[in-house]
Amino acid sequence: MSQRALSPIDRLIATADNALRTLSGNTEATERPSPAAGQPATELSDNERRHAAGLMRVNHSGEVCAQALYQGQALTAKLPSVRHEMEKAAGEEVDHLAWCELRLKELDSRTSLLNPLWYGLSFGIGAAAGLISDRLSLGFVAATEELVCEHLHSHLERLPDQDNQSRSVIEQMAIDEESHAKKALAAGGLPFPAPAKKLMTLASRVMTSASYRL
Ligand SMILES: [Fe+2]
Ligand SMILES: [Fe+2]
Repeated sequence: MSQRALSPIDRLIATADNALRTLSGNTEATERPSPAAGQPATELSDNERRHAAGLMRVNHSGEVCAQALYQGQALTAKLPSVRHEMEKAAGEEVDHLAWCELRLKELDSRTSLLNPLWYGLSFGIGAAAGLISDRLSLGFVAATEELVCEHLHSHLERLPDQDNQSRSVIEQMAIDEESHAKKALAAGGLPFPAPAKKLMTLASRVMTSASYRL
């Protein structure tokens, strides 16, 4: 539903609803079934399974952040067209969230206990960027998506070789995130300078190493 027709109170309720749904751990993919569904089940040792689950938990936390970031921006973006773009991208991220949740369940694992914290922080950053300017907001999306792509590619190298199910999920996510980054820049996003990207990389390390364990 377009938020352009909603009052500020309605928008706040829709935002709270998204937060609860994102953190519930029971997301359903909107349109696309998980790419893992087409892969034969693989045998993993306990250690391999724990490691794959740690990586998928990090990816899931990244998707929680993406939901929060897009929702925060949608709440404060000034141009309706930008708000609409953000909502559309957030919708596409729902599939990623659902795929990661499903893979974690298949690996007999769980989502990160820290997700409410990541959601809150990302929502605040997204809302602040949207308040400052739409171009900054879109630039932040592009820089974030690029960073996520880097993580996803590194996870492809670190996953157990035979875990084709996790691999197929990550590969499709990387394709989608790359297109989100390009769209955000094409829509007028400010390209972030290298030092800003470096700072974001450092901040993301806190999240990735914490979510891997917790
Ligand atoms: Fe995503
Ligand atoms: Fe994305």
